[in-house]
Amino acid sequence: MIYRDLREWIDHLEKAGELLRLKEEIKLEPDAGAIARALSDVQGPAILSESIFGFQDARLAIGLGASWRRAAMALGLPKEASPEEQVKAWGKALERYPVKTQMVAKKDAICKQNILRGEEVNLFDFPIPRAHLQDAGPFITKTECITKDSDSDWINVGTYRMQVLDRNRTAIHFSGQRHIAEHYIRARRNGEPLEMAVAIGTDPAAFLAAAVAIPRGWDEFGFAGALRNEAIEIVPAETVDLPVPATAEIVLEGEITLKADLLEGPFSEFPGSYSGCFITPVFQIKAITHRDHPIYDMLLCGRPPVEGYYTTCIPGVSALQRELSHACPNITQIAYLLPYYFNCVIQGRWTYRGESRNAILATLASESNIASKVVIAVDEDIDPWNTNEVMWAIATRCQTNTDLIILPGLSNFMDPSAEVDGSMCKLGIDATKPIPSSPRHSVAGWVMPREGTEAWKERILRAMKGGEL
Ligand SMILES: Cc1cc2nc3c(=O)[nH]c(=O)nc-3n(C[C@H](O)[C@H](O)[C@H](O)COP(=O)(O)O)c2cc1C
Repeated sequence: MIYRDLREWIDHLEKAGELLRLKEEIKLEPDAGAIARALSDVQGPAILSESIFGFQDARLAIGLGASWRRAAMALGLPKEASPEEQVKAWGKALERYPVKTQMVAKKDAICKQNILRGEEVNLFDFPIPRAHLQDAGPFITKTECITKDSDSDWINVGTYRMQVLDRNRTAIHFSGQRHIAEHYIRARRNGEPLEMAVAIGTDPAAFLAAAVAIPRGWDEFGFAGALRNEAIEIVPAETVDLPVPATAEIVLEGEITLKADLLEGPFSEFPGSYSGCFITPVFQIKAITHRDHPIYDMLLCGRPPVEGYYTTCIPGVSALQRELSHACPNITQIAYLLPYYFNCVIQGRWTYRGESRNAILATLASESNIASKVVIAVDEDIDPWNTNEVMWAIATRCQTNTDLIILPGLSNFMDPSAEVDGSMCKLGIDATKPIPSSPRHSVAGWVMPREGTEAWKERILRAMKGGEL
C-alpha cells in the first residue's frame, strides 16, 4: 500500500477505523496535548481536528503513528502485523534501497499552492502546539529537515525538533553526532549560514526515513522510496537550493544563521522528564509554502508510550539485528520494552554456558544500541515483546548474586537518573535457564616435559649457531 501524501494516509486510516474527525472547536492549549496523551494512553485512533480556536484555515492531525497498528499500516502491512513482522518488512525495504526520487515541475507541486515570503511568513498561522505545560514554547517535533553539505552533493534529511521563537524564527536542536551537525559545522567553518528546508506533513515513509538512523552514506529520500516501494516526488524549494517533498503540507525555507545561538528548552523528552536548556542555533525562515487548508501533523513527545516509540522501535531492532548477526548468531529475536530504548531484550537459542552473557555484553557494546541501559537475555519460550513474560523469566530464572552484570562508569545524558555529567551504570540480566557446565575430569597433575628435552634444546641451539645437530 502506497500513500502518496499525508491526506492519502489519513483517508486510509479513516477507512480502517484508525482515525476520527473532530468537528468540535478545540483550543490549541491544552487540548492538543491532552488529546495526544489520551489517545496514546488508551491505544485509540488518531484524531484529525478540523476546527481550532483562533485559526481560520488550519487543521491538526494528532497521533497518526501512535500505535503498533498504525506503525504496521505505515509500512504497508495489515494493522494486526506483529512487531516481528514489522521488523521483517523493514528488512525488505532495506533490500529494495535505493528507489530514486522523481523530480516534478514546480507548477505541478501541490506543496506550492500558497507561497509566502518576507513579511507574509508567520508560523503562528499554523496550529503548532505547546504540548506540555513546562515546554518552553511551541515545538515542531515531526520535521524533515533538509540540508546540503557545502563541500559535496550530500543531501541529508533528519528529524530535529524546533522551538518556535517568533513568527519567522525557531531554535533547532541537534546533537553532535547527527548528520546535520556535520553540514552545519562545515558551513560555519566556511563562514556561511546553512540553508535548510523543513517539510512538515508528508506520507509516513518520508517521515520514517528522516526520523531513524539508516546506514551511513544512504540517502533518506531514496530510502523513503524503498520503504513505500515507489519513488518520492521532489521539487526545488523557492528560496534555497534544496529539494523538498512535492506533496508536503507545509515547507519552511531559510537558513541556520551564524548570527545568534540561544537557549532552547526545557522540552518534554521521551523518558518522561523535561530536558534542561541547550545552546542551539537559530533557523531564520525566509519563505513558507503550503497546501490549501494545510494539515499540521503533530507528534507528542514525553512519557512513553507515545508516537516516537512506535516510529523508532522497529528500525532500531532491525539495525541491532544486523549488527549482532555475526557476533551472536544464536539470538533469535530482539525487542525493546518501554521506555524505548532503555530496556532491550534478547531472546536466544543458547547452546553453551555463558553464551547468553556474551550476547548481553555484545548487545551493550553495539553501536545501534549505544543508549540502552538494561539488556535482558531470555530463552526461546519467552516472548521478548511481552513484559509479563520477561518479568516472569527474571523472577524465576535469575539470581541477583550470580546473574547480573553491572557496568559502572558509562554515560547517557538522556537518562534522568544519571549524574549531571551523564555518567551512569548499565545492567545485564541473565534470565535464562541454566545450561549445565560440561563435566570436566579433575586435575590429575601438571604436564611435564619428557626426559631428554633439555638435551634436545642444547643440540637445537648448537645447530642454530651453525654446529652439528
Ligand atoms: C520524534 C523524533 C524527534 C527527534 N528529535 C530529535 C532532536 O530534536 N534532535 C536530534 O538530534 N535528534 C532527534 N531525533 C533523532 C533523529 O531524528 C534520528 O537520529 C535521525 O536518524 C537523525 O538523522 P541523521 O542521522 O541523518 O542526522 C528525533 C527522532 C524522532 C523519532
